[in-house]
Amino acid sequence: MLLQVTPSSILLCFVLSFFDVGYAKLAPDYIHPCNATTRACLVKSTQDAIPEFVQGIPSLGVPSLDPFVIDKLSIPLSGLKVTFYQGKVTGFRNCIVDNVISELEKRHFVLEFHCNLTIKGQYDAVGRILLFPINGEGDAKIKLTNLRMKVDINTKYIKDDKGVDHFAIRNYKYSFSYGDRVVFDLKNLFKESKELSDTVLKFLNENWKTVAEEFGKPIVDYAVDLAIRTIEKFFLEVPYEELINVPLPR
Ligand SMILES: *[C@@H]1O[C@H](CO)[C@@H](O)[C@H](O)[C@H]1NC(C)=O
Ligand SMILES: *[C@@H]1O[C@H](CO)[C@@H](O)[C@H](O)[C@H]1NC(C)=O
Repeated sequence: MLLQVTPSSILLCFVLSFFDVGYAKLAPDYIHPCNATTRACLVKSTQDAIPEFVQGIPSLGVPSLDPFVIDKLSIPLSGLKVTFYQGKVTGFRNCIVDNVISELEKRHFVLEFHCNLTIKGQYDAVGRILLFPINGEGDAKIKLTNLRMKVDINTKYIKDDKGVDHFAIRNYKYSFSYGDRVVFDLKNLFKESKELSDTVLKFLNENWKTVAEEFGKPIVDYAVDLAIRTIEKFFLEVPYEELINVPLPR
C-alpha cells in the first residue's frame, strides 16, 4: 500500500516536529527538578547531579570540573614567586553536599559542601616560604582532606532570544576552610640538595595550615571562579523550568 501524502499529513508532521524541537529537554537525565524548594529535596537533587555534572556536558559546551586543568597559575606573594603548570584537580565528583538554600523570590542561592581534592602538576618556586629560602622546580601534589566551602550566589532571571526563562548569576561570594589536613608533596624544593628539600617539605607539612593560608587562596579563587562560570554556562543553556518545578517569581 502506498503512503498517501496529503496536505493535512504534511501539516501534522510540521506540528509534531515543531513541538518536538520546541519541547526537547536540554537538561541531562541526572537533573531531578525539585517540586518545592525544601532543603531535603534540594540537597538530594544537588547530590544526585554532582558526580555526572562535574564531568561536563560536551553537547551543551559545559566544561569538565573533574578533572579540571590549570594550565598555568602564578601566585604572587611578597618574597616568593610560585607558578603551577599543567595542574590537574580531581575529586569534585565525590563532594558531599551539606546544605542548599534556594530563595527564588529573593534571588538568592547558597551551596555548602565538603570534598577531598587532589592537585597534581609541576611547579617552580623562587624566594622564601616562612623562614626558608627556596629555589626549586619539579612535580607537585597537594591533597586536601575535607575542604569545606560555602558559596553564596545572588541570582537573577533572564530571557533568552526565544523568550525562555533562565537562571543567571548576578554576583557571588564564598568562604571556605582547608578542613582536616593539607598534605604537600613538592619534589626538589632545593635544586641543589635532596636532603634540604626533604627537610623543608617536612617543615611545610608540619605547618600545613599556615602554608595553605599563605598561598592557597589564589588556587581556591581560581577553582571557584571556574566552577561559577561553568554553572553560569549551564544556566544559559538549560531553561529555568527544567531545573525546578516551581513557577518563576514575578
Ligand atoms: C515532582 O513531581 C513529579 C510528578 O508528581 C514526580 O514524578 C517527581 O518525582 C517529583 N520530583 C521530585 C524530585 O520529588
Ligand atoms: C575524605 O577522606 C577522609 C579520610 O580518608 C574520609 O574520612 C572522608 O570521609 C572523605 N571525605 C569525603 C568528602 O569524601
